[in-house]
Amino acid sequence: MFFKLSEEHEMLRKTVRDFAKKEVEPTAAERDEQERFDMDLFKKMADLGLTGIPWDEEYGGIGSDYLSYVIAVEELSRVCASTGVTLSAHTSLAGWPLYKFGSEEQKQKYLKPMALGEKIGAYGLTEPGSGSDAGGMRTNAKEDGDHYVLNGSKIFITNGGIADIYIVFAITDPSSKNKGTTAFIVEKDFPGFSVGKKESKLGIRSSPTTEIIFEDCRVPKENMLGQLGDGFKIAMMTLDGGRNGIAAQAVGIAQGALDAAIAYAKEREQFGKPIAAQQGISFKLADMATNIEAARLLTYQAAWLESEGLPYGKESAMSKLFAGDTAMQVTTEAVQVFGGYGYTKDYPVERFMRDAKITQIYEGTQEIQRLVISRMITK
Ligand code: CAA
Repeated sequence: MFFKLSEEHEMLRKTVRDFAKKEVEPTAAERDEQERFDMDLFKKMADLGLTGIPWDEEYGGIGSDYLSYVIAVEELSRVCASTGVTLSAHTSLAGWPLYKFGSEEQKQKYLKPMALGEKIGAYGLTEPGSGSDAGGMRTNAKEDGDHYVLNGSKIFITNGGIADIYIVFAITDPSSKNKGTTAFIVEKDFPGFSVGKKESKLGIRSSPTTEIIFEDCRVPKENMLGQLGDGFKIAMMTLDGGRNGIAAQAVGIAQGALDAAIAYAKEREQFGKPIAAQQGISFKLADMATNIEAARLLTYQAAWLESEGLPYGKESAMSKLFAGDTAMQVTTEAVQVFGGYGYTKDYPVERFMRDAKITQIYEGTQEIQRLVISRMITK
């Protein structure tokens, strides 16, 4: 058993950290304020190979593993959680199901340009009436000659509007709940597809979140992903890995907040000495660092299991649960360390605190993670 990253993983961490510091951090606050996605930044990530980390080179990837991928999401989120989730949704939620269930033709047509960063991917599961109960979706797909015709809408779509390719789940057999769901690959230019309302959010504000609408949207039959009726399982299996991407985002947010809190606590003097030398603050910093380390180990373990082809669903739910709560606690404490200054936009910790909240909500709320974990340990 090794608790040390390989040279390859350390090199990737350094590359992404340098990139994040130089290219991502300088505009993070401004993009947050303006709710602005930066396509140039995405292209620069693509130039580094970050948009296809775990996929084989024949599909445009760099042939690395899931551990490298979570390290990249962590390092990006350490300075900008929006950039972290753009990559996470693109890779885990859109790339993964294509990689696992796509035909050779689908991988060449969709996964490859995504891995090369020429196209962006997104995932559409949630609907106005079905969030935690994902099986309660209404969007339906009816067979019509060589096509399926989709009607309905999906909400809270990360990368909505900027994505070219959407992995969408729809009911093909209303008489059979979960086994009547099928996955489809929808291109943004398909007739009947449109992007609806863009959300204005508390956090991750430079990652666009939109509604997507299907009005007699015609999807060629060859764009069915996996088999008819396999959609619910594909959706769930996709989330198993996606949740670990969010855990990595949460670890990055928490680490970014701790970095800022330590720097400030060493510099800020009260009662004649730095606040870092006062126990009320130093014990806080110790607890923050300890929880982050535990969250990181859970996240890396889940990524390692996936890379080794071992079961990782339970571990992913655990990493997302623990890291999400850690991010919320750590960022809240970081604001506390900064005191009144932390409550202003002069420092990044209020942004980290706003960004942390979503990690307790998306890709399954913390309550859903507990449901998944408890079912797995008691079955
Ligand atoms: N892998 C493989 N199969 C799975 C599975 C998994 N992880 N989870 C469930 N299944 C299978 C079950 O084995 C079962 O199959 P059979 O019918 O053959 O027995 C079938 O799917 C139905 O499973 P359940 O009975 O467990 O289904 P359920 O209705 O009780 O729901 C749930 C389970 C875990 C609560 C699920 O609805 C869920 O995960 N909800 C949360 C949804 C979610 O995470 N949404 C996030 C949206 S995406 C997002 O947030 C992205 C973003 O913005 C970045």
